[in-house]
Amino acid sequence: MRIRPARRIKGRLRVPGDKSISHRAALIAALANGTSTISSFSTGADCAATLACLEALGVTIAKKEGNLVVNGVGRQGFKPATAPLDCGNSGSTMRMLAGVLAGQNLTTTLIGDKSLSARPMTRVIEPLEAMGATVTSHHGKPPLTIIGSDSLQPIAYDLPVSSAQVKSCVLLAALNAAGVTKVSESLVKSRDHTERMLQWFGASLSLQTLGTTQVVSVVGPANFSARPVTIPGDISSAAYFVAAAALLPNSELLIEDVGLNATRTEFLSVLKSFGLTIDLLHTRDESNEPVGNIRVSAEHRLIHSRTILSGASSAQMIDELSLLAVVGTQVPGGIEIRDAEELRLKESDRISATVTNLRSMGAAVKEFDDGLRVERSGLSGAKIKTYGDHRIAMAFTVAALLAEGESLIDDGECVRVSFPEFFEILESIVEQ
Ligand code: S3P
Repeated sequence: MRIRPARRIKGRLRVPGDKSISHRAALIAALANGTSTISSFSTGADCAATLACLEALGVTIAKKEGNLVVNGVGRQGFKPATAPLDCGNSGSTMRMLAGVLAGQNLTTTLIGDKSLSARPMTRVIEPLEAMGATVTSHHGKPPLTIIGSDSLQPIAYDLPVSSAQVKSCVLLAALNAAGVTKVSESLVKSRDHTERMLQWFGASLSLQTLGTTQVVSVVGPANFSARPVTIPGDISSAAYFVAAAALLPNSELLIEDVGLNATRTEFLSVLKSFGLTIDLLHTRDESNEPVGNIRVSAEHRLIHSRTILSGASSAQMIDELSLLAVVGTQVPGGIEIRDAEELRLKESDRISATVTNLRSMGAAVKEFDDGLRVERSGLSGAKIKTYGDHRIAMAFTVAALLAEGESLIDDGECVRVSFPEFFEILESIVEQ
C-alpha cells in the first residue's frame, strides 16, 4: 500500500460499528432468550470470528437488510462444537467467549492465529477456574480447552491487570453462577461496554464506586430476553481520521454517530489539551451507550510543553497509543507515554513496532520497558512494517500522510481485522 503525503482532510463520514461493543452485543444476544436485531454491527474480521464461533455453538445468525439477526439460545443453550473454534486474531473473542463457555456443560477448544497464540490467557484462566471451570492451555497461552460447568460458583475478583476483556470474561461467566459475583478494578476504569450491554438486556447488575475502586456486581443465574441493539461508530477507528484532520492545516472533518463512552474518549481529551480543535455535537444515548458527532477543524495553536501520559490515562487509550506517538512527532515538546507495558501484549508488541517505524521515518524516539518518548520531528516517507497489526498499519498511514515523500505499508490488508473500509474512506477525504 503506497501512501503519499496529504495537504489536508476534508469531509463528512461515518465509521463502521464499534468492535468492542459488537462483540458484546453478539455474545449477550446469543445468551438471551429470543431474537435480537443488531444494527451497524462491526464489519471487521474480529467480530466475524465471534459470530462464526457462536454459529459453531448452535446459535443461528442471519443478515437481514444490513442488520444482524441473532437467535438467542438462552444462558445455557449452546450446543457442543464439532471442531476447535477459531478466534482468528481476536483476543476479545477468545477471552470473552471463554467466560461464556465456562458456564456451559460442554468441552470446547479455542484456537487463534499466530499472534493470538502468543498472547497471555492466564488472566482469564485463573478467575474461571476459581469459579469452577477447568481450563487447559499451552503454558498460559492458546489453545484453550474449556471444560465448563453448569454449577459455577460466584467469586469476588480484583482485576490484577486493567483489562476490559478479563472483566467481561468474569461478568459473562457470572451470568451462569448462582449468587453475586463481584469484579473490582482499582484506579483505572476500563471500558464498560459489557456492563452497559447487560443492563440494556435487563440482566441484574449493579455498579459501585468506593474511592478509586469500581465494583461491578452481577446476580446469577441471569435470564434475560432479546433486545434490539444499535451499535455506535467505532471511536478507535475514527481516531485515525481525527488525528490526521487535527494535524493537517485547514482540514475540516465531521464524523457522525460515533460512540463517545467516557472510558474511550481520553484520546480526544489529550488532543484537545494540545490546543487542537475538536467539538462533540448532537450527543445522546443509544442502546445505553453515549453517541454523538465529532467535528475537527485544524487551527494550529499547539501548546509548548512535553506531555507525559501515564497511569489511568495511558490505560484508557491503550488502543490509541501508537497513533498518539505519531501525533507526538507533530506537537511542540513531543509526548512521553509510560505505564503502557500492556501494549507489548497486543496483536504485536506495539511499543517496539511503534519505535521501529518512527525511527524509520526519522523521528527522535526513546524506548522504555513501559512506553516511549518521542520528540517533535519532521517525518520522511519510509517502508512501514505493520507486523500484521491493524492498529500499527493505520497509525503509520496517518504518519505517512504527515511525512515528506511516499511511504510503503508492507501489509495494508491487516486493517480488515477492525476496519476493512479504512483506506477507501481515507481516499474519499484526503486532498493531496
Ligand atoms: C478490548 C479491551 C482492550 C483493548 C482491545 C479491546 C475490549 O484490551 O485493547 O482492543 O473490547 O474489551 P484489554 O482488555 O486486553 O486491555
